[in-house]
Amino acid sequence: MKKNADLLTGITTTGTPHLGNYVGAIRPAINASRQPDKTSYYFLADYHSIIKCQDPERIKRSVVEVAATWLAMGLDTERSVFYRQTDIPEITELTWILTCLTSKGLMNRAHAYKASVAENEARGRKDLDKDITLGLFSYPVLMAADILMFNALKVPVGSDQTQHLEMARDIAGRFNNTYGELFVLPEAIVDETTAVLSGLDGRKMSKSYNNTIPLFEPEKRLRKLIMKIKTNSLEPEEPKDPATCTLFAIYRAFATPEETKEMEKRYQNGIAWGTVKQELFEYLNELLRKPRKIYNELVESPGEMDAILKKGALRAREYATPFLAEIRSAIGIQQM
Ligand code: TRP
Repeated sequence: MKKNADLLTGITTTGTPHLGNYVGAIRPAINASRQPDKTSYYFLADYHSIIKCQDPERIKRSVVEVAATWLAMGLDTERSVFYRQTDIPEITELTWILTCLTSKGLMNRAHAYKASVAENEARGRKDLDKDITLGLFSYPVLMAADILMFNALKVPVGSDQTQHLEMARDIAGRFNNTYGELFVLPEAIVDETTAVLSGLDGRKMSKSYNNTIPLFEPEKRLRKLIMKIKTNSLEPEEPKDPATCTLFAIYRAFATPEETKEMEKRYQNGIAWGTVKQELFEYLNELLRKPRKIYNELVESPGEMDAILKKGALRAREYATPFLAEIRSAIGIQQM
């Protein structure tokens, strides 16, 4: 059996990756995957994506875009295991096994579910479960299966996901108590130092706010979007505060510490907004030029990516297939 995952994380495939995704999740994951002697698993959580998105074209496109982004940004697929969740049937099988061990009360407390109930309440609906599917309700079980299938030790996630990690531990513990110690309890890794980028309107960059700058926009569109970033009305020559400035925050997320210091000085000296925008555009454009080309090539002929993902799935299943057999045998489901 292959080695379990030292590090594992999933990416829901419902949108087009943007600068915020890159800085907050993709870049740290790619860096972490370069650690020697650690096995990292990264996967496209495509079965998660159908919970909220029932637009097949969009799902298809997003899977391609997300995979291409990770590859174009330099994920080393020899060193890490990169795959689609849906290429690992063992995960969905484990989901059912875990579902039978998960108390409904635990799922009642999941915040995605609670938020939907609260919204129904706020809208004055009589049926508080209106439009809530069992998929949304039990989604933490699928996530637990993603993690436990590979006995992942550490799971880097955003702070909104720590509850799901607690649930995965809870479910794993319940399994271990019932059937024997097969699962290790995974640990969430929340890196508070990774930047949360703000978007065009100054709020957190997020597809739900519709304020994102997609990573691989064509040059002209990228420039246009950067020009749209909201600033205050200070005139050229007036000193400006970098700490509250979206442009500066984006620049800092990519530039070296020296470059950042230099820019800070220029803010104090009253750099004009137009100049910052133009320079930010040039900086990002230069940085993204090469990966953008790779990205476009990958998206145009996804066959190559498909092969990479299939290879990743084979490697993941070297662990999952024998481990699931062990799990099935532990619960009394086996050939006679
Ligand atoms: N639910 C996670 C998110 O929305 C994505 C995800 C699915 C995940 N399965 C996972 C993350 C397993 C870590 C481990 O961000």
